Amino acid sequence: MTIALKKEEMLHMVDPETGTVDRRIFAEQDIYELELERIFARAWNFMAHDSQIPNPGDFFMTFIGEDRVICLRDNDGNPQVLVNTCRHRGNAICRAEEGHATSFMCTYHGWTYDLKGDLVGVPGFKEVYHEELDRENWGLIKAAHVDTYKGFIFATMDRDAPSLAEYLGEVGNICLDQLAERGDIRIVPGIQKFTIPCNWKFATDNVWDFYHPGITHASSAMAGNWGKAAPGGEQSAVRSRQTPQQRLKAAHIILLGEYGHALSGPKLDEQGLARRAFGSDNRWRERPEVKAALGPVGLKVSEHPHIFPNLWLSTSGGQLSLRLPRGPGKTEIWWFTLIDKDTEPDWHELQRHQANHVFGPAGMLEQDDGENWGQSTLGATGVVSRRFPFNFSAGRGHGQMIEDEGGPPYVETVVNEHAQLWHYRAWSEWMAADSWQDLRRTHSRVPRD
Ligand code: FES
Ligand code: FE
Repeated sequence: MTIALKKEEMLHMVDPETGTVDRRIFAEQDIYELELERIFARAWNFMAHDSQIPNPGDFFMTFIGEDRVICLRDNDGNPQVLVNTCRHRGNAICRAEEGHATSFMCTYHGWTYDLKGDLVGVPGFKEVYHEELDRENWGLIKAAHVDTYKGFIFATMDRDAPSLAEYLGEVGNICLDQLAERGDIRIVPGIQKFTIPCNWKFATDNVWDFYHPGITHASSAMAGNWGKAAPGGEQSAVRSRQTPQQRLKAAHIILLGEYGHALSGPKLDEQGLARRAFGSDNRWRERPEVKAALGPVGLKVSEHPHIFPNLWLSTSGGQLSLRLPRGPGKTEIWWFTLIDKDTEPDWHELQRHQANHVFGPAGMLEQDDGENWGQSTLGATGVVSRRFPFNFSAGRGHGQMIEDEGGPPYVETVVNEHAQLWHYRAWSEWMAADSWQDLRRTHSRVPRD
């Protein structure tokens, strides 16, 4: 089957009517390569937080799909995103994962680029190139657009992409505000990076999967992992005291955003708002400016916000996670830990401990999850097994749509798979669209009165 044929099939890979998703999208190389083209090379991808590159010359190396890029601050104070490959013969022009530089010299033949990516040095320009190389045309490949939302730097490689503001929309803003509005937030130096043998989409859809914790993480719950009270905390997390059945029936809120952004998880009730448990301190929500920014809907939600395609804002511990594709069966997981500079130092320490304890290669939850995602990926590769779709129908047709509160409409219901199905529906729309113009016209929106 050719890619051309598959493009036409993309919309049929996900069936919102039955809540089914074709297993081939988790396994086939051609589909994966189309994802790199049509999703990652088009989308606004999270690059870094302002606090990681505070000064001109500071840089952080990251990825757009499988393209390695350098996110840096130029001498004008603006973020730049440059593709980390020399225009001469492709060598990396930067080997460090983060640091500070005044320019980037390629270690192969010495072409040198400034902080805007312009080619400013060519050894032998006179002797070898006879001064005929048009240096202006041989600068580094740059992101088409770079923009920032409250300190979160994003970039897109597609010049036809809408503005970041349009891309995020109301729901994307609420997702990012769940971390951005907490205070003077900083990324703790040191990003945890590790690889899981799974398709990247298993890691993203699990973000909203509140069906699995009682089973997958039973051993971690028995070990007391959920809801330990922090020093000075007034109560332990409510969920630690719920039975698995109570958790499945607990009120959940789902926000579905344009282009596949979504937030879905337990409703933040009075008990949740008062919580100051291990890694979960909600006092920041009481500030008037935060209430104004979040709005009535944003104030009642917390878990789990996700920006399409692969940025999870883990609100309970104050972390960000990227799920970076490395082939149909391999995903690199990156964890960024945030602290609010103005909170007490013992809380900074707690957040760092929380980060190691829950997620990352040593995290009690992510070890459980990663095992499942790897097995699910294997379950999508067999010739016979992949004839049978996955089931994302939990809660389909149920739940109450509420849209009269001055914010985006939301669904209130019990544990469900609405956000996962929305994610895959958006995925199929991105994969089927020929251009940003096409995607802007065809993508799903939650209907409003
Ligand atoms: Fe960079 Fe030749 S590959 S200078
Ligand atoms: Fe999990």
